[in-house]
Amino acid sequence: MADISTTYMGIPLKTPIVVAACSISSLVDRVVMAEKAGAGALVIRSLFEEQIQVAQQRFDDYLSVGSESFPEALSFFPSIEHGQADEHLMWVEKTRKAVKMPLIASLNAVSKGSWVKFARQLESTGVDGLELNVYIMGTDPTRPGSDIEKELFEIVESVKAEVSIPVAVKLSPYYTSVVNVAVELDKRGVDGLVMFNRFVRPDVDIESETLHNEMFYSSPEEMRLPLNRVARVYGHVKADLALNTGVHTGADVARALLVGAKVVQVASALLINGIPYLSTMLRDLEAWMAEKGYDDLDEFRGKLSQKNYPDRFAFERAQYVNLLLSQH
Ligand SMILES: Cc1cc2nc3c(=O)[nH]c(=O)nc-3n(C[C@H](O)[C@H](O)[C@H](O)COP(=O)(O)O)c2cc1C
Repeated sequence: MADISTTYMGIPLKTPIVVAACSISSLVDRVVMAEKAGAGALVIRSLFEEQIQVAQQRFDDYLSVGSESFPEALSFFPSIEHGQADEHLMWVEKTRKAVKMPLIASLNAVSKGSWVKFARQLESTGVDGLELNVYIMGTDPTRPGSDIEKELFEIVESVKAEVSIPVAVKLSPYYTSVVNVAVELDKRGVDGLVMFNRFVRPDVDIESETLHNEMFYSSPEEMRLPLNRVARVYGHVKADLALNTGVHTGADVARALLVGAKVVQVASALLINGIPYLSTMLRDLEAWMAEKGYDDLDEFRGKLSQKNYPDRFAFERAQYVNLLLSQH
């Protein structure tokens, strides 16, 4: 039987399938089920910057009421423990106690801010790592992309300064040069790069002529983008790469590792097929490894990355042009 253990950000994992931040982590039973199915680790759904701001706002309100009226107002403090951010921290602690597999907390960021101190609070729950889910919207027409990247780097630097557990950054695929962004983050000492986050955007309902948000899962074709970008980043950074979006089968896990991923992160496939399906993905990966004669993951990891692939233009636009021109 092949050895499918690995490490991710220095954390030993039994398998290379990490459950991505999603609703699976909302119920302890499901987290336990994921561990039983063979998950290497699980990312707990994000604590969103907006949730923290709500808690912070309430905290500020209490303090100002207290200073204006009566000092013992601070005895009201316990009531904000039930704010969303605090509930989240309690939830992470509870989940930590329920399973042995490595757990990674996730912190969402859309701007620089005082919320960074929550990184340390998440660390204090006993999680093994922290994933930073950063997406700064480029909506201001006067703001150049370089400025958005600068803000990303500053957020990452401030979170890194706050904690001593490994930190991964979950990237958007929409940077002009995502390879360069990966290298710059690597220089700032990130331990992992999750490639990529998948965004849910409002759609247009032409009947009611309104915008509506609907949750829909990824399709396997969506894996092509992270596959291509991981192949390009592999070998240029020390950080471990976690391929995310569109990983639906054991064969997809093999694909991800072949281009250089250390692990994959999976949400949709488990939400569609049920959490025990994770064990089917692992069995299929092992079957493929046995067929190829691989004893462990390092034997084939990165074999098809841009660095190791003999035809270095295979990942470039030329191939795209050939493909388009061959269609009739
Ligand atoms: C129901 C649901 C909830 C999610 N919640 C989060 C979240 O809290 N934080 C986060 O970074 N990503 C979140 N995601 C995104 C996933 O972690 C993952 O990046 C995305 O679904 C792509 O992976 P997939 O193709 O395996 O679904 C969520 C996805 C789903 C489907």
